[in-house]
Amino acid sequence: MATDLSKQKELKEIAGILLMATSVDNWSPIQKFEAKPDDLLICTFPKSGTTWIQEIVDMIAQNGDLEKCQQVILQQRHPFLEWTGPPKPSGVERANAMPSPRILKTHLPAHLLPPSFWENNCKFIYLARNAKDCMVSYYHFYRMNQTLPDPGTWEEYFENFISGKVGWGSWFDHVRGWWTSKDSYRTLFLFYEDIKRNPKQEIRKVMQFMGKNLDETILDKIVQETSFEKMKENPLVNRSAVPKSVMDQSISPFMRKGTVGDWKNHFTVAQNERFDKIYKEKMEGISINFCTEL
Ligand code: A3P
Repeated sequence: MATDLSKQKELKEIAGILLMATSVDNWSPIQKFEAKPDDLLICTFPKSGTTWIQEIVDMIAQNGDLEKCQQVILQQRHPFLEWTGPPKPSGVERANAMPSPRILKTHLPAHLLPPSFWENNCKFIYLARNAKDCMVSYYHFYRMNQTLPDPGTWEEYFENFISGKVGWGSWFDHVRGWWTSKDSYRTLFLFYEDIKRNPKQEIRKVMQFMGKNLDETILDKIVQETSFEKMKENPLVNRSAVPKSVMDQSISPFMRKGTVGDWKNHFTVAQNERFDKIYKEKMEGISINFCTEL
């Protein structure tokens, strides 16, 4: 049966945050989700390298055993909490059917997270990516993803991104929210650019946070298998199984460039100056350092 995309194309607001309309329409089961104390939640703003950290976490969880990682596509390994379908089952249904210890994924801002995650003192891995590259990556994702509204021109999209009128809301508020909660909850806060610069060091941090102790050779294997080049060719992570009517990879591939600094190919000088000014205002008072070029 053909998937009805017209419904999914809609984004709806909840508490001022745009989300998939189907998530908003089914908000109650998401909010009432019962987390367990041994859940690990992978949290990101969209296009921050979610797929990358998911593959890293899965390889660590499977002790570097590729065959075990390759049993199902990545989207099925870690339930996407606020996903309500189609296709079904929803993220909540998938998570409820999963044995513990569970690894789950969300793009929700901290203040919209189901309260049971905080109450159960769950572990969080938050992966942040510098706003400029994140914005560019999201633009191309909007273009190729037929379940999202048309992003309009780059200039129009630029305005929408900085005012938080994109799916999952404001990048600034998202990063601020998770950065602020990190000292009160068990959070490993990572940066995309750090993994790019020194993958082994960052993968080791993830391993330690997960309470694992893997050999150096296994860590080296994980570094290799999670490189952009390898993952781009890996059909279990590169979304090649997703129909063209949902993701049209001829418009822009899901595994697009995987670099730091691509924003320079998109931002005009004026946009960059404006962005830097807005960034300063919106991120005032928090000591977070992003790197926008390597
Ligand atoms: P680009 O569009 O800049 O290439 P998400 O998984 O959150 O949707 O993020 C997708 C972004 O992460 C894309 O960025 C994608 O190429 C990048 N990415 C995915 N796997 C990667 C890897 N192994 N190394 C570097 N970047 C990766």
